[in-house]
Amino acid sequence: MVGLDIGTTKVCAVIGERTETGGLEITGVGTSPSTGLRKGVVVNIEATLRSVGAAIEAAEMMSGREVHSAWTGIGGSHIDGINSRGVVAVTGKNRETREIGEEDILRVLEAARAVAIPMDRQVLELIPQSYIVDDQKGIRDPQDMIGVRLEAEVHIITCSVTSAQNLVKCVNRAGFRVDGLVLQSLAAGRAVLTEEEKELGVALVDMGGGTTDVLVYFEGAPYSTTTIPAGGTQVTSDISIIKNISFETAEKIKLEAGSCWQGNGNGNPVSNVHGEEDVIVPGVGGRAPLAIPRKEIEEIIRPRLEEIFFMVKEKLDKLAFSRPLGGGVVLTGGGSQLLGAAELASEIFRLPARVGAPLSAGGLVEEYRNPAYATAVGLVLEGNEREMAKGLERGTRRAEKGNTPLFGRLAEWLKKEFF
Ligand SMILES: Nc1ncnc2c1ncn2[C@@H]1O[C@H](COP(=O)(O)OP(=O)(O)OP(=O)(O)O)[C@@H](O)[C@H]1O
Ligand SMILES: [Mg+2]
Repeated sequence: MVGLDIGTTKVCAVIGERTETGGLEITGVGTSPSTGLRKGVVVNIEATLRSVGAAIEAAEMMSGREVHSAWTGIGGSHIDGINSRGVVAVTGKNRETREIGEEDILRVLEAARAVAIPMDRQVLELIPQSYIVDDQKGIRDPQDMIGVRLEAEVHIITCSVTSAQNLVKCVNRAGFRVDGLVLQSLAAGRAVLTEEEKELGVALVDMGGGTTDVLVYFEGAPYSTTTIPAGGTQVTSDISIIKNISFETAEKIKLEAGSCWQGNGNGNPVSNVHGEEDVIVPGVGGRAPLAIPRKEIEEIIRPRLEEIFFMVKEKLDKLAFSRPLGGGVVLTGGGSQLLGAAELASEIFRLPARVGAPLSAGGLVEEYRNPAYATAVGLVLEGNEREMAKGLERGTRRAEKGNTPLFGRLAEWLKKEFF
């Protein structure tokens, strides 16, 4: 099982192998710098396919396996999420008792999906949130329940047709098949969120290089999807412009000495970073080395991060939940490793915040236990789940002809649209 995360700053491939006990083990991780994307969208096919090839090759080397196809992540500002609902009359497996069958569930999902979507957009994910049977709300699985009227609440994620096609084209031209396209933040959520957090309500904030992607879970299911078109690259640009140094040097300073929070004023600093300490920037082209106090770097980084978090908060405030997000905020992606990111987020959102790294898969490779790999690891987990649903389907088809598990059929149905 291969997860391929094509990001704005890096392409990451992760290879997972199923264990005998049904678990998943990560056996290979490979990354390569990415130059062919802007804000999560492919703008240069040639450059992107080279990065894809290099990342997969590195993962192959580590795991000793040969890769033919990959579950590929898709993201960017063209992603949109809407909530919709559909209603049908139950025809039922059994006319007398009106027992809800799979056909009814598929029909109600189809009804919920029947929203006007512009020609240039396509449904990427259709995620059932909950069902209503007659007047009974909040049902997770209505199968076999008895009722007359079946209603479904769903979250529909759409994407630009051309962006999706260009992504698939890059992977194909690099020599690999696409097993399926999965929303990046959905994959990251699978890798870093707990069931409890999703149930209580949680905002997953994927702090990437080009974009900051937000996926809100409420009552166990995705509820809202948004993208803020700013990320870690802006933070580095700020340092580079204000300090008049190259982007590369600024990036190095950010990674080595960057922070965005200096404690809460109660003598409780989050790091051993002392404002008085200097960072030495080597002089280039005969210029004298430059000493920058860490405090100054923090003062450059913090406002940009605050701005990004406030943009996220503005979106969250519009959602008007019946109760606060009990699971708080979970930060992930490369940018979440910035010292003090969780503390700053907690202050701005007024919610508990933590940094989420993928931990749920086993394996010998320690490297993947890092928030920058959340999406790629999540793609492996998600791919595994979807494969298993399909395998189950094939099994059942052989056993009892025609009666296939819902999830597999739903996946097939969406897949038809793309490939
Ligand atoms: N230790 C670190 N401290 C601070 N920032 C970091 C650290 N490591 C990585 N970053 C930043 O994280 C960003 C890259 O994150 P990530 O790898 O999740 O992005 P991506 O997936 O390539 O991009 P996107 O998701 O926007 O398409 C870069 O801006 C990088 O500077
Ligand atoms: Mg990313």
